[in-house]
Amino acid sequence: MRTMILAAGKGVRMKSKLPKVLHPVCGRAMLLWVLETAKKLGGHVCVVLGHAAEQIMQVVPPDVEVRIQGEQLGTAHAVMSAQDFIDPNDDLMILYGDMPLIKVETLKEVLDRHKTDENDVTIVSTLMTDPTGYGRILRDQTGKFVRIVEESDASDEEKSIREVNTGIYVFRGSSLLEALPKIRPDNSKKEYYLTDAVTLMNKVGIHQVRDWKQFVGVNDKVQLAFVQKIKQREILEELMLNGVTVLDPETTYVDADVEVGPDTTLYPMTFLIGKTKIGEQCVIGPMTRIENCTVGNRVRIISSDCVGATIEDDVSVGPYARLREGTVLKSNVKIGNFVEVKNSKIGSHTKAQHLAYLGDATIGENVNIGAGTITCNFDGKKKNPTFIDDEAFIGSNSSLIAPVKIGRGAIIAAGSVINQDVPEWSLAIARCRQTNKPGWVIKKREESGNAFST
Ligand code: UD1
Ligand code: CA
Repeated sequence: MRTMILAAGKGVRMKSKLPKVLHPVCGRAMLLWVLETAKKLGGHVCVVLGHAAEQIMQVVPPDVEVRIQGEQLGTAHAVMSAQDFIDPNDDLMILYGDMPLIKVETLKEVLDRHKTDENDVTIVSTLMTDPTGYGRILRDQTGKFVRIVEESDASDEEKSIREVNTGIYVFRGSSLLEALPKIRPDNSKKEYYLTDAVTLMNKVGIHQVRDWKQFVGVNDKVQLAFVQKIKQREILEELMLNGVTVLDPETTYVDADVEVGPDTTLYPMTFLIGKTKIGEQCVIGPMTRIENCTVGNRVRIISSDCVGATIEDDVSVGPYARLREGTVLKSNVKIGNFVEVKNSKIGSHTKAQHLAYLGDATIGENVNIGAGTITCNFDGKKKNPTFIDDEAFIGSNSSLIAPVKIGRGAIIAAGSVINQDVPEWSLAIARCRQTNKPGWVIKKREESGNAFST
């Protein structure tokens, strides 16, 4: 069996610069969902591209064949453009690049049916509550297939038929090759319709599928949202069946390539995006976005935004923390509220619990970063590194002007502005000495005639 995926159309109704089949559904291009399903079926796969072919080809895996349909003159014309892919001694399954919900089990059923009934073509139909836009299946009184009529060519009576052509078929290769040259663009759209190939076949079978949702094609962004919702639910259900607790599936968004370990709890408004991997027994959310991160076991991330970070076991992040690209948090690190970390490695058991910016820093183990600590990593031209060795203590509201090194066990007095390296086990104070002037306030008030009443 061979599979051909039609994806040459422009997708005008998407009103987008991005080609339709590249629009992501749960983080994966629509076309890739279809390709994945086609591959599970086995056999050679070919995609027919036209509009934005160059751009789409970038995401098509190398083992998938590509054919180009120069002008889009209809579904049969698309198949003709890939005629050399059709094997006369083999069956051909037709799929569409904009139908990402189709399931491999369904396709297998169709294929089995096609083989058992020895059909020239097996049409896949379904009953739609609202069949608008689809081709309708016309049958005679005995239920035998007559033909498919497109919406634009249908009479009012025909339009009331709810059994629609999903557009998915299995053809006997030789029969299709015979029919293709006979198809004429004799219809209101002046297109070469693949549905006409069906009429030219001797033995036509119809396989009706109950679950109509699998065949919803994405033509506009309303349908994109519909499809996204269903796919999202499927991904979450798979996670839940693998032991992940999802408190509110309605407000939890997990991309297709994300992995989550058992006994991890996802609180509402959690977004797990891209290539993200979360370990076991973690607590994530509420209100958290994690994108392209690797997260260990027993990690807590609350109300935070994390992108491109590696987080080891037993770390706690947030609430209201921001981890940026290149952040590495070793085990048992604590990153608290309003702490931003960028391109920094933070050693085990180190804490930065409140209001800090750590950028381009290498920080050892058991370090305490006081509230308001800032690594001043940017000198206006380039980024400079900060090194803080194990067991150092950075007092609150310190500015560490990079490049700078804080030695092992050193203490930085609160409010210091550090622009020289601090040797190990030393105390560095870099702030003005305090002066107290006794009675100064009273004196001032007396001078201005505004003395205390007592
Ligand atoms: C087609 C069927 C219709 C069916 C519906 C299901 C025909 C004539 N009609 O109609 O019976 O109910 O699908 O969705 O086949 N494409 C190309 N090249 C072309 C034209 C289309 O690659 O020249 C691709 C498009 O990218 C799209 C798919 O084929 O993915 C369907 O084409 P479209 O024009 O949307 O067909 P429908 O009018 O939806
Ligand atoms: Ca369509």
